[in-house]
Amino acid sequence: MVRIVAFLAGLVFVMALVVAILMPRQPAVENAAHHFHVEPAKFAFASDGPFGRFDRQQLQRGFQVYKEVCSACHSLRHVAFRDLEDLGFTKPEVKAIASQWAIEVPSVNPETGEAATRKAIPSDMFPSPYANEVAARAANNNALPPDLSLMTKAREGHADYVHSLLTGYRTPPADLPKESRPGPGLYYNPVYANLNIAMPPPLVAEGQVSFADGTKPTVEQMSQDVAAFLIWTAEPKLENRKRTGVAVVLFLLLATTLAYLAYQNIWADKKHGKRTSLT
Ligand code: HEC
Repeated sequence: MVRIVAFLAGLVFVMALVVAILMPRQPAVENAAHHFHVEPAKFAFASDGPFGRFDRQQLQRGFQVYKEVCSACHSLRHVAFRDLEDLGFTKPEVKAIASQWAIEVPSVNPETGEAATRKAIPSDMFPSPYANEVAARAANNNALPPDLSLMTKAREGHADYVHSLLTGYRTPPADLPKESRPGPGLYYNPVYANLNIAMPPPLVAEGQVSFADGTKPTVEQMSQDVAAFLIWTAEPKLENRKRTGVAVVLFLLLATTLAYLAYQNIWADKKHGKRTSLT
């Protein structure tokens, strides 16, 4: 009897699990945002896949877009200037980039002890353009430009999301309900979860930056390059991780083969019905 009850209880749990897995996922609230929302498109980045490597030229271009456009509002507080050596910049170049950075870093006047700012040095992190969150919100219609260091890890869709978002600004469609229309200081961008984002379109015209390597600076190109750069800021050791992964898988394959051969060797006489000296 106990067995039957236990079996039935188990059956109920299994059925509940099956129903839960097979049921179509329903959005919690059906509203205009769901109807007009656009999922980020898929793009190919050089760092994708198990053998992915960064395209250093692209990262340098992406850094240039960050420097000339995004850094006006966004910090990179987990990345130091000296990390740029990874992208192929030399030490003197990094030093120059740091000392010429438009935003100075907070400091203290050694003579008076008062708060001051100084030019950045290679060991500094990329500074925020705002003194604090209050100042940042005051300058951005009460929205806070998030730190971009880990952005490609923080959002579903990763770098594809960033690229889609930057190129996703549209004029609101005519049938967009009134409550979903962008209010003052908001911009219609269906890739953003609630359709309206407080960030003004940052990349608007071809040639907004001019690339040293001669690549044509289309909006698409600048957007993809800065997204690739943000993959690097979020995981500068990505190449190491992938290289280690490949080496580990190869090692495990070899170890498995050796273990299998050893197993066959050890049990060979037993399998063939031979007697060993021990038995
Ligand atoms: C004029 C200031 C400004 C500039 C320039 C700017 N942003 Fe933003 N950004 C914002 C603000 C403000 C937000 C917050 C938006 C919100 O909360 O609605 C934001 C949000 C974002 C987000 C987060 C979106 C999300 O899902 O939460 C990303 C990613 C982003 N910006 C990337 C960039 C990149 C890349 C550039 C450079 C090409 C850039 N931004 C340039 C002001 C700016």
